[in-house]
Amino acid sequence: ETQSHPSHFLTLLDLTPDAAQQLIQRAIELKQWQRAGVIHTPLKQRTLGMIFEKSSTRTRVSFEVGMVQLGGHALFLSPRDTQLGRGEPIPDTARVLSRMVDAIMIRTFEHDTVELFAQHSSVPVINGLTDRFHPCQVLADIQTYYEQRGTITGCTVAYIGDGNNMCNSYLNAAQLFDFHLKIACPDGFEPAADVLNRAAGHYTLMRDPNQAATNADLIITDVWASMGQEADAERRCIAFANYCVNDDIMAHAKSDALFMHCLPAHRGEEVSASVIDGPQSVVWDEAENRLHAQKALLEYLLVTASIC
Ligand code: CP
Ligand code: NVA
Repeated sequence: ETQSHPSHFLTLLDLTPDAAQQLIQRAIELKQWQRAGVIHTPLKQRTLGMIFEKSSTRTRVSFEVGMVQLGGHALFLSPRDTQLGRGEPIPDTARVLSRMVDAIMIRTFEHDTVELFAQHSSVPVINGLTDRFHPCQVLADIQTYYEQRGTITGCTVAYIGDGNNMCNSYLNAAQLFDFHLKIACPDGFEPAADVLNRAAGHYTLMRDPNQAATNADLIITDVWASMGQEADAERRCIAFANYCVNDDIMAHAKSDALFMHCLPAHRGEEVSASVIDGPQSVVWDEAENRLHAQKALLEYLLVTASIC
C-alpha cells in the first residue's frame, strides 16, 4: 500500500551485524562531538512523532533532545490526547502521521501494535519499548560497554531476573554482536521461546544467579514487575526473592565486571544499593547513552538507510 519501503527498527535484528557495529561507533563519535560543542544538524526541518501508551522518562527526553540536537523537532503524542485513545485504528493513524512526520517512535504494550503500525507507515518506525522488546535501550547498553571495554564480541554477559523485554533484546544482541548470554531466571519467568530459538548457541539458561554471574564481564538486571504487570507484583517479589543482584552475586563475576540496569531501579529488590551505587555500576553513562545511540539511529534511518 505504501509507496516507499522505509527501514524500520522494531528489534535489534532489523540491523545487520555490520550496520550495528557502525551505529555503535557513530554513537560514540556523536557523543564526542556533542561534548566538544560541534554543531551537527543533518535532520534540519525533519520531525519525529512520538507515541507513548506507557510512561517514560529516558526514552521521551532522549528522543526529543536528540531530534533538537540534530536540527529537527519531536512531537509528544499521548493516546489520552490524540484520537488513538478514542479508538481511531492503528493503521489509519499510521497512514495519517506518516504523511506528515519523517519518522515515528512508538512505545506500546503489545508488540503486534508496533508491527501493525509499521506495516501501514510510509516512514521509519522505531520501537521505543513493547512488552516483548526494548531495542533502543540495548543499543545504549552496548555503546556503554564499548566505551568502557573496547568491544563486547566474545564477552560473557549475565542477565539475572525476569525473562522480559530487556532479556529478549539481550538475546537478540548476543546474536548480533556475537557474545554469550547467561540467563538466570525463576521457573515460569523464562524469555520468549522463539527469541531463545533464534539465539541458539549464544545463550545458556539456568536458575542459579551465582552460576550465571560466574566469570561474567557484565551483569545486568531489570525490574521484577514491568509496566502493565503491577497487579502481579506481589507474586513476583516472592518468585524473585533470590535474584537481587547484590555484592555476593557480583563477587562471582570477574573482578572488573560492569553492572548495568536500564532504569528505573528498585533498590533492595532487583539490585542492592551497594551495587547500583557502587564502583562497578555504569548506569548513569548507560542512561546518557540513550541520547547518543538514538541520535546515531535516527541519522542511520533518516539519512544513511534512505540513500541505500
Ligand atoms: N529505560 C527506559 O526506557 O526508561 P524510560 O521508561 O524512562 O523511558
Ligand atoms: N522491563 C521494564 C523496562 C522499563 C524501561 C518495563 O517494561 O517496564
